[in-house]
Amino acid sequence: MKSVFSSSPIRIGVVGCGYWGQHLVRNFSEVSGVEVRAVCDFNLNSLAAVKRRYPKVELKPNFRELISDTRIDAIVIATPMATHFPFARTALLGGKHVLVEKPMCTSSVEALELIELAEKRNRVLMVDHTFLYSSAVSHARSLIEAGDLGSLFYFDSIRISLGLGQSDMNVLWDLGSHDFSILDHLAGADPTSVSAIGACHLGSAFENIACVSAYFPDRVIARFHLNWLGPTKIRQILIGGSKKTIVYDDLETNEKIKIYSKKNSASHSREPRENLLTGYQSGDMFAPHLEPIEALRGVANDFASAITDRRCPLSDGHSGYRVVRLLEAAQTSMNQNGRLVELTASPLARLASQLYQRDSVPVN
Ligand SMILES: NC(=O)c1ccc[n+]([C@@H]2O[C@H](COP(=O)([O-])OP(=O)(O)OC[C@H]3O[C@@H](n4cnc5c(N)ncnc54)[C@H](O)[C@@H]3O)[C@@H](O)[C@H]2O)c1
Repeated sequence: MKSVFSSSPIRIGVVGCGYWGQHLVRNFSEVSGVEVRAVCDFNLNSLAAVKRRYPKVELKPNFRELISDTRIDAIVIATPMATHFPFARTALLGGKHVLVEKPMCTSSVEALELIELAEKRNRVLMVDHTFLYSSAVSHARSLIEAGDLGSLFYFDSIRISLGLGQSDMNVLWDLGSHDFSILDHLAGADPTSVSAIGACHLGSAFENIACVSAYFPDRVIARFHLNWLGPTKIRQILIGGSKKTIVYDDLETNEKIKIYSKKNSASHSREPRENLLTGYQSGDMFAPHLEPIEALRGVANDFASAITDRRCPLSDGHSGYRVVRLLEAAQTSMNQNGRLVELTASPLARLASQLYQRDSVPVN
């Protein structure tokens, strides 16, 4: 077993050194006990950019060479979505631990195959659900777990940017995977059904705008507004409960989350309708201090220590599966103009819930 403090570091190979891959290389280079040994990309400019900053890193022309390097313990995959499954599968079969970018793969069947393979080969399989490692999401989860919000009523997210988006996925799979992973982490339960609509503008083959609703037991509703066409960036999530509401604005520098005690109350007595009043209970607003950490550093640390300590990371393959399963159902609904898609009725979902526990289990 490798220790992050021993003289034998965990040796990482990164495939895909574009926008996000370069952030991964930087973060892993700064984790104690980890060495970025090699990077692979077919774009020579991307490779040159890494070499300039990290002269000791080896450059590999293709993925096969990265996998066949026996000095590499773990592979980080930051290439387009369509390559996630084949690269992760090959890496696991080659005996490597795997950190794969979000979304984990293109279907829940692929996700289950990767989980099974990682378990059989006793390797760590992790998905970069970056936001789970942010102070804001961690704090929101601790408030929900402590019961501070009361019963959960709704989750309402707006994620908008003016950008080109990804080359091989629509706005649902790109931006939606962030929100779905946050919801999955905070709700602690799976939605029972989902409906989604979307549209392709500006001649794009992919939807660049989408609205998704996910339904949970007890009338809890989650709504997602995903948009690549906005004139400005918006990253806001409201998590409303019977006692308090969290307003999370990821673009805020100092007060990313605000917790409101203010709520509305309605009388549901048998009074005539004209006597029913919605009241507003005012209350305090509190903005807790959050450590200004880089979430991606948390991802890199968790991956390294999951390998060292032989345990499942927070954002493990099961978390990746649940997000992909919801994306898949939302895509099915979007293809059918918003038809409600049941999640519990899926034989695959039933099989998965029998096979896999929601809670992380140690890697033997
Ligand atoms: N977690 C996050 O917050 C976050 C943010 C941005 C992107 N991402 C994810 O990271 C991945 C990459 O996104 P990006 O924005 O960096 O894209 P990008 O286009 O900037 O980078 C992708 C890189 O992969 C390389 N590549 C593609 N196919 C390859 C192959 N077969 N072999 C070797 N190299 C190959 C390309 O040359 C390119 O340099 C996507 O899956 C995306 O969803 C995650």
